[in-house]
Amino acid sequence: MKLCIDHADVAKIRRIYEFYPVDGVSTNPSILAKCGRAPYEVLREIRAIVGDGELFVQAVSPDAEGMVTEAHRIVKELGEATLVKIPCVPEGFKAMKALNAEGIRFIGTAIYTPMQGFLAAKCGAEYVAPYVNRIDNMGFDGVQVSKDIHDAIVRSGLTHSGLLAASFKNSQQVLELVKYGVKAVTVAPDVIEGLVKNPAIDAALTQFTADFEGLTGRGGTMA
Ligand code: G3P
Repeated sequence: MKLCIDHADVAKIRRIYEFYPVDGVSTNPSILAKCGRAPYEVLREIRAIVGDGELFVQAVSPDAEGMVTEAHRIVKELGEATLVKIPCVPEGFKAMKALNAEGIRFIGTAIYTPMQGFLAAKCGAEYVAPYVNRIDNMGFDGVQVSKDIHDAIVRSGLTHSGLLAASFKNSQQVLELVKYGVKAVTVAPDVIEGLVKNPAIDAALTQFTADFEGLTGRGGTMA
């Protein structure tokens, strides 16, 4: 299972890459807008951190032709390991079929229902991105919707596709889908840090240090 960072703040991405086993970075138009900088300038900096890992960048055109044109520019600017995020709406499915025929890598995004994910996978999407927390906020079960999409993809033999589950707000949502074995999750830096933030962990390490220093003296280590 891949773990990606759902953010565009270069400093935060750099920190997460330094400490955690990360496979890529996903962005969307709102995430880029929060940076307040020219999109390709930020994305090129992110590409430099990601190396040849996967970078996800969304097309914003309302029509299929515009999405395909954007996809060409995105891949030209940021390399072939860049997957174009295409919204799962009718114009998006049309764009996906065209991109699939051209061999351009893409992902179906803005997914709130299982059938959106299934149709994107049928169009050739390498990933489909259900918005877990946004679905929860609508009064439905975002984890269950994600599991349903995963199951539909697996049982249909659409082996080229899988989840890049997105929009997480807490560790439990991430854990449920990690346990389920989805293809990938993309998680904001603060939620990634929260996966291992726990006073019990800190207390255990403090106690280990105190005990060991009692044995060896202050600053003692196994080195
Ligand atoms: O990229 C789409 C998704 O990650 C949105 O997340 O936090 O805006 O619900 P959020």
